[in-house]
Amino acid sequence: MILALDIKEREAIYSLVKEVLPFIEFFKVGAVIFTRFGPGLVYDLKQRGCKVFLDLKYHDIPNTVYEACYQAAKIGVDMLTVHSLGGYKMMRSAMDGVKRYEDENGKRGPLILAVTILTSIGEKELHDELLIKGNLKDVVLKMAENALNAGIDGVVTSQNEISIIKNFNKDIVTVVPGIRPKWSERGDQKRITTPYEAIRSGADYIVVGRPIYAHPHPKEAAIKIVEEMESAGR
Ligand code: C5P
Repeated sequence: MILALDIKEREAIYSLVKEVLPFIEFFKVGAVIFTRFGPGLVYDLKQRGCKVFLDLKYHDIPNTVYEACYQAAKIGVDMLTVHSLGGYKMMRSAMDGVKRYEDENGKRGPLILAVTILTSIGEKELHDELLIKGNLKDVVLKMAENALNAGIDGVVTSQNEISIIKNFNKDIVTVVPGIRPKWSERGDQKRITTPYEAIRSGADYIVVGRPIYAHPHPKEAAIKIVEEMESAGR
């Protein structure tokens, strides 16, 4: 499980991490808290024994993404995201940035995941604003295919696409957000999956935010979700 640290106070982040750390070791740092607290937050999390998923969805010219991925590897992140709409060359450059780090340091760099189409983009936006034809699902799968052809390690995906993606290549890492245990609030998430269903469908990681950090007892919520994942038997 990866806990999304979508919280704006630094001390609240650290006390949450401390509370759940025995049960969760992977934490997602997104654009908001990275912009606010910078790489110091990543160093602090790493010092506490956490793994860090840096979710900045890089989308820029290939050379810039190459350099950004190299720097992300240097600050010690374990996993990061690029945007598949940046294209094949950009995604290859992202992998090359990590490879440079690996060659220089003799150790594994971060896994690179591609995001396909943001869940905030519906078919209407796809057609009217982006002028991308076809139905949303086909476009999502095409983006995933581009990412896999570029050698990307994994994709952020909904539960529905996991089996198709694993059919391309079973070693592709799948990370599924939009997770809601039955006992939690749905919030603004439209397409949700329970931890059990996500793991049963083959997800390698689930990303969970509010069901844990907005729960009155985050540790209890974390334990319940871990148990639910274990009950899926993988
Ligand atoms: O609080 P909640 O569990 O909904 O948080 C889910 C996390 O996963 C958030 O950080 C959100 O930005 C991220 N995410 C998502 N849907 C996507 C991609 C990322 O919910 N398609």
